[in-house]
This record gives sequence, C-alpha cells and structure tokens, in this order.
Amino acid sequence: MTVKTRLLSGIQSTGKMHLGNYLGAVLNWVTLQSQFDAYFMIADLHSLTTVYENSAQLREDKRELVLDLLASGIDPDQACLFYQSEVPEHSELHLILSMITPLPWLTRVPSYKSKIEEIQDKDLDTYGFLGYPVLQAADILLYKAQRVPVGKDQLPHLELAREIARRFNHFYGPVFPEPQESLTQFPTLPGLDGRKMSKSYGNTIPISASPEVMQKLVLSMLTDPARIRRTDVGHPDLCPVFAFHRIYNSKERQGEISTLCQTAQIGCVECKKECARLVLDSLSEFRQKRLHFSSDLGEVENILRKGAQKARETAAQTLSEVKRAIGL
Ligand code: TRP
Ligand code: SF4
Repeated sequence: MTVKTRLLSGIQSTGKMHLGNYLGAVLNWVTLQSQFDAYFMIADLHSLTTVYENSAQLREDKRELVLDLLASGIDPDQACLFYQSEVPEHSELHLILSMITPLPWLTRVPSYKSKIEEIQDKDLDTYGFLGYPVLQAADILLYKAQRVPVGKDQLPHLELAREIARRFNHFYGPVFPEPQESLTQFPTLPGLDGRKMSKSYGNTIPISASPEVMQKLVLSMLTDPARIRRTDVGHPDLCPVFAFHRIYNSKERQGEISTLCQTAQIGCVECKKECARLVLDSLSEFRQKRLHFSSDLGEVENILRKGAQKARETAAQTLSEVKRAIGL
C-alpha cells in the first residue's frame, strides 16, 4: 500500500462562505481529497483574531460553514474535517512556536500591516492578531503536512511556516518537514464592487443564498463604470460581470457577449440576468446536498466529532515528539 502525502488546509469561519471561496479553494479541496491524506480545518480560532469583540455569531457561522463544505462535496469518508478549537494541540503548539518566532518576522508579513490599515472598524492591534501566522504554522506543522493548498495571498504565511519549521529543527533536531504550497489555479473572482471577492470587503455572494437573493446580488453587481447609458459601448475587460461570464459561460458565448457589449447591442441588465442563471444552475447539486445535511444535523455533528478525534490522534503524536525534542 502506498502511503498518501499528508495535506492540510484551513478556512476561516467568519461570515458566510462565498463564491470566491467555493471556486477558488473548496472545489480544489474536493479534487485533492482522494489523492492525499487530507485534513480540512475550520479555523475558528483564527476567526477570533478579528471578531473577538463580537463573537456571538461565531457558533452559527461555523455550523453554516460546515454545511457549505459538506454540500460542496467534502467527503468525510475521505478527508478529515474538524474545528480547529476542538483540537487543543493547535493552541499548545502555537504557544511553543511563539517562543522561537522573532517579532520582526511577524511585523514584516505583508498582510499584517495591510489588514490593520484596511480594517478600520476593528482594533487589530492585539497580540493574537500579530500571532495569526504563528497559529497557522502550528496548524500545518502539527500534522507534518507536506502540502498546503492555498491562494497566492497566503504565500507569505506559508513561507513563515517554513522558516519557523527550520528554526525549530535547528534548535531541537529534525521534527518538522517543510510544508510546500500547492497554488490554487483559479483566477481571482471579483466581488459585487469589482474588488476581489472577500469577506472583509463585504462584497460577496454567499454560496448558501437563496436563488432569489443570489439573482438580486448578481443584478446589483458593478459593471464597466464608463458605461452609464444603455447606448454607451462597454469594455468587458473592465467589467466584473464579464469576469463571471469567463468562468461560467461557453467560449463561444463569451465572444458573442464581448462583441455585443462593445457595440452596445446588449444591455447590462440582460447580460447580468444571463450570468445569474448560469451561476444558479451550477449550484443545483450544492443546494440539494445542503438541504440534505441541514435536515440531519445529528449526522453533521457525528462527522465533526469523528474528524476532531482523528485530528487529535495525529496532533497528539506530533506534540509529544515536540515536547520530547525540546526537553519539556
Ligand atoms: N489563513 C488562511 C486563510 O485566511 C486560513 C488558514 C488557517 C489556513 N490555518 C491554515 C490555510 C492552515 C492553510 C493552512 O485563508
Ligand atoms: Fe459588463 Fe455585460 Fe454590461 Fe458589458 S453588457 S458592461 S459585460 S454587464
């Protein structure tokens, strides 16, 4: 029997899972789960770094996220699905790794400063937020994961995880393999306002939205800002709706729409309606599965309990190795 390579990834449980997460990350996980020894984690402790002042929503967000993941095709018979906070070893390894992580390694992480500047309505000047990537390193190293599927934005975090692993191995002997990213190929999905679709921008299309709401959201999308009147010609390359057509529509139809847009022969409303229909059609199986899981929450709880159990077994082994290596 060949041993499968260990793979781990995580997703934050703040707000609802959106189309960008689904296309950019989760569908990739679904592909990978059969090829690797896969661990998929709901990073609820990471969420706490930004929602600590208002954590009441967290419990519901987590559950909804699990339903979305299962409905997307994450298969608990193939992959280990669990809540980060249910595996206390994450917190323990985070603490231990924090001892050997030089502060400048953290303050120079590009997302650190940019997030603090971007997110004005929350006080992110905390110990926990600075340590966000250390916790992420702990997530990965705890399972000795060799593959970590992530988007480009996470590369600095992965580089830091490797640096921490090296430093640990240098001090205490070889315990951790260096994790490698496997980059998600998918192009960045624009959000309703044309910026990258992201929870922190509030410009998302939640994947669990009802067909009616989803249609409304697509119809509310920004288009080519220079196209003000119906008679103005449009520039598909500058239009977020066209980015959706690139994903959801046939090559042939993309060409047609592009021409119609550039000659003002199609209106934006019509164009968006076509887009909405394609998005909705692509999610029919998702909606069915989600209904199934949301009507059997006992089964969902079982899946998570088993997931945490399996994760803890692996995590506890690594942690005792870590403590032995250090001499704790
Ligand atoms: N920081 C990741 C994100 O925002 C989520 C995450 C937490 C993660 N722990 C991880 C990703 C471990 C990969 C591996 O997308
Ligand atoms: Fe965008 Fe379509 Fe309007 Fe052209 S017609 S600007 S592609 S929404």
